[in-house]
Amino acid sequence: MATVQTLYQEMAAFFKPLWPGEDKPLVLGEGRDSSPVLMLIGEAPGETEVIKRRPFVGKAGKNLDEFLTLARLNREDIFVTNAVKIRPSEIGPTGRTRNRAPNKEELSLFIPWLLKEIQAVRPGALVTLGNVPLKALTDKKNTVGACHGQWMQSKAGIPLFALYHPASIIYRRTLSTVYDQDVLTLAEALDRPEGAS
Ligand code: URA
Repeated sequence: MATVQTLYQEMAAFFKPLWPGEDKPLVLGEGRDSSPVLMLIGEAPGETEVIKRRPFVGKAGKNLDEFLTLARLNREDIFVTNAVKIRPSEIGPTGRTRNRAPNKEELSLFIPWLLKEIQAVRPGALVTLGNVPLKALTDKKNTVGACHGQWMQSKAGIPLFALYHPASIIYRRTLSTVYDQDVLTLAEALDRPEGAS
């Protein structure tokens, strides 16, 4: 079984020639990379993550810290990564580069690598943030609105717990209570591992 570091070398070699002339650096996962209690999977890196080449820093890092506090976990004890490892971006009407949702091509390029990454890290559970990793790891028909706060079976054969993406909560304040409740449900299951199924 490949370690995640070997896998990341393979990924770097695979992606290097794909977008010649474009600056699309990979932002890889980090944290406890062997059998952590959970692997947290976001959508894709944003601007700050690309600058720092680290997932969940910048604004998303603050969301992650809140998650960790509520779930009674330490960042070093979990593995943090994204479904898509480049920043999907476009030029907005003001001429500034802005984030966009990953497209089909990006998803089909990156999801097989995500599955290999999960096999290499072997976490006890997967926690997905938002629709992108949830759909990729379960079924396209699933939505976070219907699945949040529930344990599901994932394509990786590891139990998956779906959460809203913290960024969606910023725009829909009413979801913040739901999100907090879901994280507490997760924390309880992690305290009683037999509940995580
Ligand atoms: N930053 C990340 O690394 N992932 C997200 O999903 C959002 C921001």
